[in-house]
Amino acid sequence: MKNGKTPDPNTLYPIEGYENEIYVKPAVTRGNIIVGDFTYIADKDFESHVTHHYDFIGDRLIIGRFCQIAAGVEFVMNGANHQMNAVTTFPFYTLEGWNAEPPEHSDLPLKGDTIIGNDVWIGQNATILPGVHIGDGAIIGACSVVGSDVPPYTIVAGDPARELRRRFDDELTALLLEFRWWDRSIEEIDRLIPILTDSDLGRVKEQLGRMLGKG
Ligand SMILES: CC(C)(COP(=O)(O)OP(=O)(O)OC[C@H]1O[C@@H](n2cnc3c(N)ncnc32)[C@H](O)[C@@H]1OP(=O)(O)O)[C@@H](O)C(=O)NCCC(=O)NCCS
Repeated sequence: MKNGKTPDPNTLYPIEGYENEIYVKPAVTRGNIIVGDFTYIADKDFESHVTHHYDFIGDRLIIGRFCQIAAGVEFVMNGANHQMNAVTTFPFYTLEGWNAEPPEHSDLPLKGDTIIGNDVWIGQNATILPGVHIGDGAIIGACSVVGSDVPPYTIVAGDPARELRRRFDDELTALLLEFRWWDRSIEEIDRLIPILTDSDLGRVKEQLGRMLGKG
């Protein structure tokens, strides 16, 4: 491989001598965060950007492979959502001295796991709200607040994040979702780079189709 080095998903620093960008997987310590190989963040630290993440709620943050997470991105987990079906949202039970028990889970607006696909690019300072599912190949614009699901290969931006456009036509999107380049071996992905970075999408379609045995 290049300069005699092989990409290593278990190394913390993928750029020698530079500590402001890390592969996320080797940095994870919490059991309720699951991150795939080669996903990186432009930060020294990942878990401080996953907030309100409490074991007693049990929600998980699941991120696929090869995601690109910019600086300032925040994953807000379900513990952030206060009870809203009573007259106050004040969380007495979390603070010392108040005679209050935690609410039933059914009284909390829990939205489930946050699931980010593979090869998702999340722009600077974007906020991902609890329970959102973001599909493979999606792009999240800078400073977006993502409160609802994002389909694969879709660009969204804004607060609330709304679709700007689909990245590719249905045929290429379907080929990419079937091909799943991110699940292949490091050696194969390395060989595929000329195709993955080719801006002639007609040619890419042909090559993916051929590799998938579609003529
Ligand atoms: C979303 C993004 C990828 C651009 O996508 P694009 O398809 O080229 O979009 P365009 O620049 O053509 O903009 C299309 C429209 O979306 C708006 N838009 C673009 N990015 C936006 C954002 N982050 N928030 C709100 N609106 C945005 C544009 O103003 C434009 O609006 P208009 O149609 O009313 O004029 C880019 O704007 C962005 O946010 N990149 C993130 C960069 C970043 O954070 N990098 C981190 C380091 S890796």
